[in-house]
Amino acid sequence: MSPQTPNSEAYWLPFTANRRFKRNPVVFSGAQDMYYFRPDGSEVLDGIAGLWCVNAGHGRPEIVRAISRTAADLDYASSFQMSHPLALRFADELIRAAPAGFSQVFFSNSGSEAVDTALKIALGYHRARGDGQRVRLIGRERSYHGVGFGGLSVSGIAGHRKPFGNLLPFVDHLPHTYDREKMAYTRGQPEWGAHLADALERIVALHDASTIAAVIVEPVAGSTGVLVPPRGYLQRLREICDKYGILLIFDEVICGFGRIGGAYSASHFDVMPDIITSAKGLTNGAIPMGATLVREHVYEAFMQGPESAIELSHGYTYSGHPVACAAGLATLEIARRENLFERAGELWKEWEDAAHSLKGAPHVVDVRNIGLLAAIELAPEEGKPGQRGYAVHQACLERDCLIRSAGDTMLLSPPLTIERHQIDRLFSTLHDALRSMP
Ligand SMILES: Cc1ncc(COP(=O)(O)O)c(C=O)c1O
Repeated sequence: MSPQTPNSEAYWLPFTANRRFKRNPVVFSGAQDMYYFRPDGSEVLDGIAGLWCVNAGHGRPEIVRAISRTAADLDYASSFQMSHPLALRFADELIRAAPAGFSQVFFSNSGSEAVDTALKIALGYHRARGDGQRVRLIGRERSYHGVGFGGLSVSGIAGHRKPFGNLLPFVDHLPHTYDREKMAYTRGQPEWGAHLADALERIVALHDASTIAAVIVEPVAGSTGVLVPPRGYLQRLREICDKYGILLIFDEVICGFGRIGGAYSASHFDVMPDIITSAKGLTNGAIPMGATLVREHVYEAFMQGPESAIELSHGYTYSGHPVACAAGLATLEIARRENLFERAGELWKEWEDAAHSLKGAPHVVDVRNIGLLAAIELAPEEGKPGQRGYAVHQACLERDCLIRSAGDTMLLSPPLTIERHQIDRLFSTLHDALRSMP
């Protein structure tokens, strides 16, 4: 730790080994474009867009101006029984960018809240249609849907779930879609594995369709290791959901806003879910915000009874916060002006080649990529799962590159504004770090 690095005994950090952190804190005190700055002024190349969110690069002046102007003009306005121009405009703009058929946006403050909102809308939808026995929610192994009790219940990461007891009842999980023997070193979507969606038929047979409200999946599972959907898998899920009247939710908190291509990856995969959740890139990470988008038929199911009735008893004090909406509008404007949502497509080949150049590097057992996402999977150290991944993350940081580790998988998801020479630097640094490992 350099003498200038600040520290705190009081701060309990999320998803962090706190005692280890306090011994050796990692602190960034500034950020611009593709770089973080340490308190001593040194630069770190951001290979993960903050936490999969700063898609347009750090410190965008347009977003900064929108935030500061709005904080001065309208610091807060409730969204309960009232609104303000920025929320109204941002909702319209998000729907304009959405796949055809999506008609409504519900605002929240995080990906976790966007997911819990989606799950509640799914349950409420069936109840509103007189199908209130449809209470079962189906998630998938190796998925991450945030940390609310709803999202955690449908998530598929054992270590996140175990400490917290029973979670929601009436939840089941599809198998995950990763099989290294069949898929290792695939570029983009694997050809093998569409049939894994048929597990939903088995779940339907077990519980009966009449008890199932919704299936939620990340189109590409992000934080558990960039698990790319096999070709035809998402289509098959859609077909089975249609067959049994089950709603399909795509959690696009990572996959949206240009990460794979297009504002929503549903368009890229050409599969239309009933509900989409978004967050992270929605405001370029500059201000917390979540959004849940629904298709017309979902919304219409709620629009019954007297006009004075509240149709969905749900919402947050900060739903549609003016500052967040201003940041979101400025983010969309940047994306339009700079064709940011096409950037992953433009860089795809270079990104893919750079990622796969690590095939054969020490400890590497698989490389996966899609859009501007990549995962480099390492063989774990004997009896010490996760340690090699963390050591490589540290070694990259020592070489001034921020690359995330999830267990023994190295994850990369840079700002979409990354330049070709920075792609080279990220992967050559990772290669160098791997060569330095025992
Ligand atoms: C797919 C997905 N859903 C939900 C979340 C939760 O978002 P948040 O951390 O903003 O609550 C995340 C966060 O990484 C995510 O990747």
